[in-house]
Amino acid sequence: MFVLRFFKLLTLIAFLHAVAPIACLKFDYPQFSGDDYQTIRVSDEKVSVISGTAIQVTLDNSRDSAVTNLSGRAWYAKPFKLWRRGKGGDTITASFNSTFVINISPFPGKTTPVGEGLAFILTAIPTVPENSHGKWLGIVNETSNGSSPIVAIEFDTLKSYPEDLDGNHIGLDVGSIYSTEQFSLNDSNVQLSNGNSVTVNVVYNGQSKNLSVFIATNETDEFITISKIIDLSSYLPEDVYVGFSASTSDQLELNCVKSWSFQGKDIAGRSLWVWISVPTVALLLLIFVVAFFLYRRRKSRQVDPEGAYPNIEDHIRSSTAPRRFRLNELRNATRNFNPKNKLGKGGFGTVYKGIWRNKEIAVKRVSKKSGKQEFVAEVTTIGNLNHKNLVKLIGWCYESRELLLVYEYMPNGSLDKFIFSDDSREELTLDWETRLSIINGVAQALEYLHYGSHQRVLHRDIKSSNIMLDSEFNAKLGDFGLARTIQDKGKTHHSTLEIAGTPGYMAPETFLISRATVETDVYSFGVLLLEVVCGRKPGNQNEEDTYNGSIVNWTWDLYKKGRIVDVADPRMEGKFEKEEMEDVLILGLACCHPNPNYRPSMKTVLQVLTREVEPPQVPLERPSFIWPAMPPSFNKLEYSTTGSQLAPFSELSGR
Ligand SMILES: *[C@@H]1O[C@H](CO)[C@@H](O)[C@H](O)[C@H]1NC(C)=O
Ligand SMILES: *[C@@H]1O[C@H](CO)[C@@H](O)[C@H](O)[C@H]1NC(C)=O
Ligand SMILES: *[C@@H]1O[C@H](CO)[C@@H](O)[C@H](O)[C@H]1NC(C)=O
Ligand SMILES: *[C@@H]1O[C@H](CO)[C@@H](O)[C@H](O)[C@H]1NC(C)=O
Ligand SMILES: *[C@@H]1O[C@H](CO)[C@@H](O)[C@H](O)[C@H]1NC(C)=O
Ligand SMILES: *[C@@H]1O[C@H](CO)[C@@H](O)[C@H](O)[C@H]1NC(C)=O
Ligand SMILES: *[C@@H]1O[C@H](CO)[C@@H](O)[C@H](O)[C@H]1NC(C)=O
Repeated sequence: MFVLRFFKLLTLIAFLHAVAPIACLKFDYPQFSGDDYQTIRVSDEKVSVISGTAIQVTLDNSRDSAVTNLSGRAWYAKPFKLWRRGKGGDTITASFNSTFVINISPFPGKTTPVGEGLAFILTAIPTVPENSHGKWLGIVNETSNGSSPIVAIEFDTLKSYPEDLDGNHIGLDVGSIYSTEQFSLNDSNVQLSNGNSVTVNVVYNGQSKNLSVFIATNETDEFITISKIIDLSSYLPEDVYVGFSASTSDQLELNCVKSWSFQGKDIAGRSLWVWISVPTVALLLLIFVVAFFLYRRRKSRQVDPEGAYPNIEDHIRSSTAPRRFRLNELRNATRNFNPKNKLGKGGFGTVYKGIWRNKEIAVKRVSKKSGKQEFVAEVTTIGNLNHKNLVKLIGWCYESRELLLVYEYMPNGSLDKFIFSDDSREELTLDWETRLSIINGVAQALEYLHYGSHQRVLHRDIKSSNIMLDSEFNAKLGDFGLARTIQDKGKTHHSTLEIAGTPGYMAPETFLISRATVETDVYSFGVLLLEVVCGRKPGNQNEEDTYNGSIVNWTWDLYKKGRIVDVADPRMEGKFEKEEMEDVLILGLACCHPNPNYRPSMKTVLQVLTREVEPPQVPLERPSFIWPAMPPSFNKLEYSTTGSQLAPFSELSGR
């Protein structure tokens, strides 16, 4: 990586060498994300965090942490070359231009007074001084006041010194907390601490030594607050860090920075132009090309220290193959698996929300004890598949014994939340069109798994909590490989309850043949279809004493009475076409036929849903389960020549 970056840099130098002075430091964060911990440093993770899309230089009160008497800092990891000595011994100072948006807000329920303030800093020592909370604004402390290599633009929200003009001013602090310049915002219609964002532009001209601070809000046009001729090179060393500090005292506020751009460059004259002769550049390039390839070769020879799944990458063939993530990337993305980012917990792991390269992702941390097989199954099955109705696996990580799967983030979460909610709030109620499109989406996903790719994939755990909804309520089937894990653990026929996935979605013959087939997937799909239409839980399909608890029995009874449409979720308020509803429900019953031989294939299901063919005939009386009812696919499956018992049980049966 390092070599690569260096290589890029050199190419850039070669390109620029005759046309421009070197840009010293330049960055732009339109907003922040957990990813930015790689370039933004914080002094104390308990005080300063990147949260949401902002840096909280001192944090909000949504965590358990104390929020009084804090001081924190966040800064750009690389220093900025502020000045240097030229050939004749004269000082050449760089210019810079930085724009950032600050947001200082009172804590909920707490109003005035707030405190204490936030500051933009240039400093030799980026870490926050001890005991710099309260009136010190994280800039200096009692000891270092007056002798600290720091220059700060303070946004002070509390009058804590007699010298302070008021509790709403901007100040220029040089080496101490004392402001050599102050500008009160009293008359300007800007209140720093009322939670509105303030855009600040700090400009320094290295030649004229003019330092100016402009501010603007969405209600106020940009105006100048502080303007001062100051030779920064007499107060600061050549290399400085740029960033922010902030503090609270017994008075509290949330100090945020929402965006930040910085451009710093030498503009001060010829001696700063970097001239590298063309042969030198060429030679350096050559050396680095060679070094780069040597590095690559060495790297590729390195054995996987984990050594456990050397072939995962070989299994993944498609061009949209999931990438391998580094553990650190995912730690950063999820803020070290912060419980606040938790989206949910399943049998095999916990899912966290994360932000990676400004994109929202869902990261499943597979439990170390029980999840290895599932992890491999998931990476090797959906890693190879690509369909608009399958949750996309973006990547995976196996490092330091952590098993992680990275998916696209689904803003609307899982389907069960919508259909099983007693809450009749509008935003939680799905209308008939949406429900139908979800059923359609799942059917397409399943048809693809069964017939559409080069291998047959059985999902084995179709249920509403495994259907995810994107921002437009498109259904995406997720959670692969669960059933396989359990089966591979060597369960016998007697513990079939476990292998079948989830009670309520299991076809009756599952108990006999103790494995999943195309037909058991169709059965689960039928149950899912019914629950999406009815808005109720499936109940246990297979126990006599809960006969009425079973959604299949219940629907079938009403079908017999000619009132099948009565099962429709009352929250739809009858807003659907009756015949269409009837056809869909009959299709659901057909999928739930106790005899697997009579269930339609997913191809037929799709044709019915697109109204190409009529729904299959179903008897008025729910047929009883005839023992033994072998599914058609059972006979067709070929046992492997080695006689391996696992062959018909395998999740991926070749076609
Ligand atoms: C905060 O610090 C001030 C002095 O720096 C002290 O008087 C006060 O008790 C502290 N408050 C808390 C809650 O620790
Ligand atoms: C500073 O940068 C902003 C945008 O990045 C630009 O609009 C502005 O003109 C610059 N100011 C100076 C003095 O260069
Ligand atoms: C001020 O900060 C420095 C550096 O963190 C520390 O060594 C010193 O003890 C602090 N002074 C006080 C009074 O806390
Ligand atoms: C901090 O130092 C400045 C400059 O030396 C001085 O004017 C000011 O009174 C000091 N402030 C405190 C609170 O000690
Ligand atoms: C700003 O207003 C506050 C109260 O409204 C007042 O105490 C303070 O003196 C004013 N500051 C200036 C500089 O006028
Ligand atoms: C300015 O932004 C604040 C929120 O930051 C909002 O409450 C206010 O209405 C906005 N004002 C205008 C004029 O858009
Ligand atoms: C410094 O720059 C600001 C903004 O460009 C300008 O308003 C001010 O007059 C300048 N000061 C001096 C002394 O040139």
